[in-house]
Amino acid sequence: MATPSSFSKAVLTWACAVLLIGCTSAQLSTNYYAKTCPKLFPTVKKTVHAAIAKETRMGASLLRLFFHDCFVNGCDGSNLLDDTPTFTGEKNATPNRNSLRGFDVVDKIKFAVEKVCPGIVSCADLLAIIARDAVEILGGPGWDVKLGRRDARTASQAAANNSIPPPTSNLNALISSFQNHGLSQKDLVALYGAHTIGQARCTNFRARIYNESNLDRSFAATTKRNCPRITGVGDNNLAGLDFQSATSFDNTYFVNLMRKRGLLHSDQQLFNGGSTDSLVRAYAKSQGTFYKDFVAAMINMGDIKPLTGSKGEIRKKCRRVN
Ligand code: HEM
Ligand SMILES: *[C@@H]1O[C@H](CO)[C@@H](O)[C@H](O)[C@H]1NC(C)=O
Ligand SMILES: *[C@@H]1O[C@H](CO)[C@@H](O)[C@H](O)[C@H]1NC(C)=O
Repeated sequence: MATPSSFSKAVLTWACAVLLIGCTSAQLSTNYYAKTCPKLFPTVKKTVHAAIAKETRMGASLLRLFFHDCFVNGCDGSNLLDDTPTFTGEKNATPNRNSLRGFDVVDKIKFAVEKVCPGIVSCADLLAIIARDAVEILGGPGWDVKLGRRDARTASQAAANNSIPPPTSNLNALISSFQNHGLSQKDLVALYGAHTIGQARCTNFRARIYNESNLDRSFAATTKRNCPRITGVGDNNLAGLDFQSATSFDNTYFVNLMRKRGLLHSDQQLFNGGSTDSLVRAYAKSQGTFYKDFVAAMINMGDIKPLTGSKGEIRKKCRRVN
């Protein structure tokens, strides 16, 4: 039997859907497409699996897409829109240009999903499902993804420039950025654990490895080998964000932070004598605690300002508005 509160939620969802009234409390739910697209989850997972089998790093790139969507005016698929002569999207914003990747994989997934249930599933929701699948495939935890977001008909390069913190950020800036998105310090540290997978370009960590002192010597030596000191030389050379373990979704990222092996300035800020040290210690000690908090934080991040009801649209192609 439905409890009174889940019953009233059902009525509210019905009223939002049938009467198209503006609903202030966004209602995402894990069974949103159960009836309208029963093959959704296996269809997405198959393609994410194939993409990661082809290139392990793609799992990291796909996870990051969701973060860079949610932090810019909410989880609305805005970062997937291509620039056109009359439209400036977010792909060339400072944090994204020459960095964000995986758009072709999202296209493939959208194509496969459109084949089994055309016009039903938003690109914003696909990013949430893809992120979950990527984490799980690389050995991390699984969870039920909340769904029901619609796609933006707009994007904002200015917001993308301003809403995603740069890797030069200090702890206070990171905390206040996450706070501005309704996320706690625990969410911050747990979500940062995403840097247990994937890579960064020399240009983003050169200043740290050559100039900072809260740095392990052997880590610095190894990392310098592929990232020359001189600006402009080897700027795009890559290093793993999680030293020597950047392909499995584990808690070694936090162990490395405790050894002063954070790759980005902002990574090491999480363990540098400040208020987040204790969380880093807890996650380094217990992978289970990290997984539990990471899942909760991913769900919190996925709740950022979704478009629901009659707002936005269900895009046919993720790269352009209908
Ligand atoms: C505010 C904190 C964060 C900062 C400053 C930050 C910064 C960065 C930077 C600079 C890179 C490397 C980009 C490049 O060199 O091209 C990167 C990569 C990455 N970030 Fe973050 N990040 C943050 C939070 C997050 C969060 C919350 C997630 C996901 C939940 C995430 C997931 C990733 C992943 C998976 C990669 C690797 C991508 C790949 O290999 O393609 N990051 N991040
Ligand atoms: C975003 O930053 C880039 C520099 O990285 C700049 O060229 C662009 O004009 C900025 N966009 C807006 C709208 O401020
Ligand atoms: C290191 O710091 C010095 C002094 O601030 C600066 O001139 C130099 O460019 C920095 N080096 C790197 C690789 O960032």
